[in-house]
Amino acid sequence: MERIRSPKFSKPVYTCGEGLRFATPEIVASYRAGRLRCGVLADISCGIGGQTICFAEECGRVYGVDIDGERLECARRNARVYGVDNITFIEGDALSPQVVEQVVDADIIFSDPARPATEDVRQTDSLRPGIPMVLEAYRDVTDSFAFEAPPQMPPERIDFDCEREYLSLDGQLNRLTLYFGPLKRCERSAVVLKGDMYYRLKSGEAAPAGIPEADEPLPYAFEPDPAVMKAELLGELAAGLNIPMGLVKIDARRNLLTSESNSDSPLFKNRYRLLDRVNIDCKLINRSLKKNGVGKAVIRFHVDPERYWDVRNRIEEGLTGNLTAHLFEISGNIYLFERY
Ligand SMILES: C[S@@+](CC[C@H](N)C(=O)[O-])C[C@H]1O[C@@H](n2cnc3c(N)ncnc32)[C@H](O)[C@@H]1O
Repeated sequence: MERIRSPKFSKPVYTCGEGLRFATPEIVASYRAGRLRCGVLADISCGIGGQTICFAEECGRVYGVDIDGERLECARRNARVYGVDNITFIEGDALSPQVVEQVVDADIIFSDPARPATEDVRQTDSLRPGIPMVLEAYRDVTDSFAFEAPPQMPPERIDFDCEREYLSLDGQLNRLTLYFGPLKRCERSAVVLKGDMYYRLKSGEAAPAGIPEADEPLPYAFEPDPAVMKAELLGELAAGLNIPMGLVKIDARRNLLTSESNSDSPLFKNRYRLLDRVNIDCKLINRSLKKNGVGKAVIRFHVDPERYWDVRNRIEEGLTGNLTAHLFEISGNIYLFERY
């Protein structure tokens, strides 16, 4: 066991083995604890306590259960580091009747299960403890359950009546939380965490807007946050913007929304202003970059890896400006954007 400083936590924490690697970052844990605030909550796979401590800050009482005694000892010490004293720690298998009977007064059961190190396609029953097994073991305790699941798990593998909440942190997909019973508020939701603010979008709240496909970008282009894309809420996002949007397909995985007007929605990961459009020709791209005062180009289109440095050097040759331009290939042309 060691105590170390990590960007995940505001204080140095005790950890062992891979405990810190799998711990929930404090900012995410704190958001989730706010959503699950209740009288008594049982975190039945608490690890080194990253999530449990935030629950303890929001709830009346908390149980922290883990099968691994050393990790549980880290959690106990971390609770002291954070100054919370309303957690009862229990070492044992969360699926065993001995553990279940110690937490019968829990209003909510939460689990962030361990994931098998290697698995081709993630499954809800290969998590430890498995989600179906937890639902069965605790069905007489409560019907309010929340689980963390791998965000890349294909939606069809999550064969439950639950809300799927995709959460992003600093523009990267970070967590998928499943909410059951009374905790379910909709089918799909996206939460975007930025600094100490969060922004939420839910399915079913507004009718999704149809977004016509645009052949080319308009003066403004927007990259939707990955949590919005994962939750399949692009139409709902567009409906809330109050300005007409078109959809530009970059490739099979990437889309940009585009508009004549600016939007400062926090549900965008990146916002761009169009600088120019040129044919796919390094000389023409370079000339346009110079004309637009660009000093650095970020290539966001496919280049054969063997030719990458040659292409990049030719595109960036002699650039002295202050701007950074992002270069996308759309319908056979290169579009130069400034991020703002
Ligand atoms: C992903 S970690 C939890 C991390 C935790 N949320 C945090 O923020 O530190 C999963 C934990 O589940 C525990 N675990 C696995 N199977 C278990 C079981 N049957 N009963 C209780 N805990 C279990 C592991 O020991 C591990 O500490």
